[in-house]
Amino acid sequence: MAFDNNLLLDTFNGNPTPRPPVWLMRQAGRILPQYRAIRGSLSGFKELVQTPHLAAEVTIQPVDELNVDAAIIFSDILVIPECMGLDYDLIEKVGPRFPETINSLKDVESLDSGKTAAERLGYVYDAVSETVRQLDGRVPLIGFCGAPWTLLCYMVEGKGSKTFSKARAFLMQNPKAAHLLLDKITESCIEYLKLKVKAGVSVVQVFDSWSGVLSADLYNEFAMPYINRILDSITEVPKIVFAKGAWFVLEELGKTSADAVGLDWTIDPEFALSKIDDKIFQGNFDPAYLLGNKEDIPQRAHDMLNRFPKGKHIVNLGHGVYPETPLENVKTFINTIQGK
Ligand code: CP3
Repeated sequence: MAFDNNLLLDTFNGNPTPRPPVWLMRQAGRILPQYRAIRGSLSGFKELVQTPHLAAEVTIQPVDELNVDAAIIFSDILVIPECMGLDYDLIEKVGPRFPETINSLKDVESLDSGKTAAERLGYVYDAVSETVRQLDGRVPLIGFCGAPWTLLCYMVEGKGSKTFSKARAFLMQNPKAAHLLLDKITESCIEYLKLKVKAGVSVVQVFDSWSGVLSADLYNEFAMPYINRILDSITEVPKIVFAKGAWFVLEELGKTSADAVGLDWTIDPEFALSKIDDKIFQGNFDPAYLLGNKEDIPQRAHDMLNRFPKGKHIVNLGHGVYPETPLENVKTFINTIQGK
């Protein structure tokens, strides 16, 4: 099926496009006053995530307000730990918190996984089908999951961390439990993405936000095989892999079955092109540029565009848009890419 705005799928299919598609990680969220209004009327983030018609509404807000070329379903990577039996909460201005964490093989063995776990996330699939219905063919909808390593980080650590030293220690002290946990997360993510595709997403992205705390050796042992299993299991739609800080395994990411490789802003396009020659690139405008002068944004955006091969580039930021970013700056960036 072709969308009214088919730039993203045309890029995946290698069809010529008048300009690259653009969407932003974290485009639905606090940068939009409409989001803050809905969010402020609710008990919390989870109520929004778990109420399909509200999740659909905030998913579509950036399509209406920013005119982005794709929507990404409003949800969070932490629904996977939850459906496996590890509850999370999102505390205002603090971040994710897990009341219980994974410390032992026994803890890992007690978790659910695969279909049993993924089938509990009916509210996500309902939000996807409701969003697709309301988008009515305007733009494609992207579905996502966290990569197993990043999800292990939260499940072991119980919260965000600068070093994820507890999660890294778990790999060293209990590798058997770590591999079993990564395997169970992987099986859950595969079933989850398949159900999202069934509900109507047209593209999927795997987010490995904490790749950068591992070395290449540890990444190849504890992260890459699981990412490959997820990517290889999804054959129905195009796939994007975004591993933040993973410059040291860029070549390996280029050998996965992903159609596109997301780049963070620390990776020069020239470096990426020297490591990967047959993939689409996604990224990698520095989100900090959107906190600078509005007047500087068009030149910086053009500079980025000129460094990526035409027709093989999906424009995005190098990571999620910062919540305090002025909306005018975000619009200036998108309008520049869209030639307005
Ligand atoms: O990109 C999108 O617009 C879709 C929605 C989306 C959210 N989280 C909404 C959200 C996506 C794709 C995510 C993924 C996610 N969640 C990741 C991977 C991507 C990345 O940024 O590296 C990670 C690591 C998480 C975990 C998570 N969720 C954190 C660390 C936080 C707190 C940080 C913060 O900004 O407050 C969240 C909460 C969260 N997820 C918010 C949103 C809009 C903020 C909640 C609020 O409204 O207060």
